[in-house]
Amino acid sequence: MNVRKAVVPAAGFGTRFLPVTKAHPKEMLNVVDKPLIHYTVEEILGAGIRKIGVVTSRGKSALEDYFDRSPELEAFLEAKGKLDLLEEMRAIAGLAEFSYIRQPEALGLGHAILMGETFVAGEPFAALTPDDIYDCRPSCTKQLVDCFAERGGTVIVLGRIDAEGTKKYGVIKPKKITDRVFQVLDLAEKPGPERAFSDLGVLGRYVFTPGIFDAIRRTPPDARGEIQITDAIRVLLEREPVYGLVFEGRRYDCGDKWGFLEATVELALKRPEFKDDLNALIDRLRRR
Ligand code: UTP
Repeated sequence: MNVRKAVVPAAGFGTRFLPVTKAHPKEMLNVVDKPLIHYTVEEILGAGIRKIGVVTSRGKSALEDYFDRSPELEAFLEAKGKLDLLEEMRAIAGLAEFSYIRQPEALGLGHAILMGETFVAGEPFAALTPDDIYDCRPSCTKQLVDCFAERGGTVIVLGRIDAEGTKKYGVIKPKKITDRVFQVLDLAEKPGPERAFSDLGVLGRYVFTPGIFDAIRRTPPDARGEIQITDAIRVLLEREPVYGLVFEGRRYDCGDKWGFLEATVELALKRPEFKDDLNALIDRLRRR
C-alpha cells in the first residue's frame, strides 16, 4: 500500500529552547529564511505525500496560521505591488492538505503519534519530528518510503552515533540485511554507552504500519510519565518485523541551541546569496 499520509508531532514544550519557546513554538523557529516545520513539509512532499496531520497543543496556533491563506497580508502585498512575495505567500498555503490534531497534554512522542490514529485511518504513514532538518536527495522520508515498499514493514531511520549520542537517542540491536538496511532485533531508549547495543541511533523519522497504534496503547509510560515511541516500537516487534535504514545525506539536530546554530550557519553557506558574505564574515572573525 502506498504511503499517502504523514504525522508531524509538534505539541512539545521545547524546554531546551527556553525562554523563546515560552511564547513561540519551537517548530516555528527560523532557519535561514523559513521555519523548521517548513523544511519538514518539503521533506514530506519530496516523498510524494500530500496529506499532513500536525499534532499541536495550546499556544501553537502560529503553525496553523503559517500554512493557511492570509487575506489581509495578501491584499497588502498586492496593493504595494509586491507580487513576487504575494505568490510566495499563496504557494505556502497551497503546499499540502493540512489537518490539525490536538494533544491535550505533552505525554511524549509516542502519545503524540497516537493522537494521529483517526487521521491515519488504518493506512501506513510517515512520522517526522520537525526539530530535525534532513538535507538529503532524495528526501529522507522518500528513502524510508522506498525501503518500506521493498520490505513491507515498519522502517525507522538510523544514523551512526557516538557515546554522547547513546545518551540522546534510541539505539537498536541490528541484524544486517544490506550495507544500509538492518532488521531491528531490539532497541533501547537513551541507553548510554555501557548499555548500547550498537552505534546505530534512531533519529526521528519513521514509516509505520498502523499496527504501531495498538503497540503505543500497550506501552507503559516511562519514569517521567511519557510514552516513548522507542518503547512502543519494542512492543511492535513482538508482532511485526521492524527494519532500520541508514539514511544518505546530512541531518541537523535543531532540537537544541547548538544544533540549531550549526544548521543555520551550514545551510546559509549553501545558499548562493549568503555564501560569499558569510565566508568573508567567518574569515574576519577568525583573524581577530
Ligand atoms: P522533543 O522531545 O525533541 O521536543 O520531541 P520537546 O519535548 O518539545 O523539546 P524539549 O526536549 O523539551 O526541549 C520531538 C518532537 O515531538 C514533539 C515535539 O513538539 C517535537 O517536535 N512532541 C514531543 C509532541 O508533539 N508531544 C510530546 O508530548 C512530546
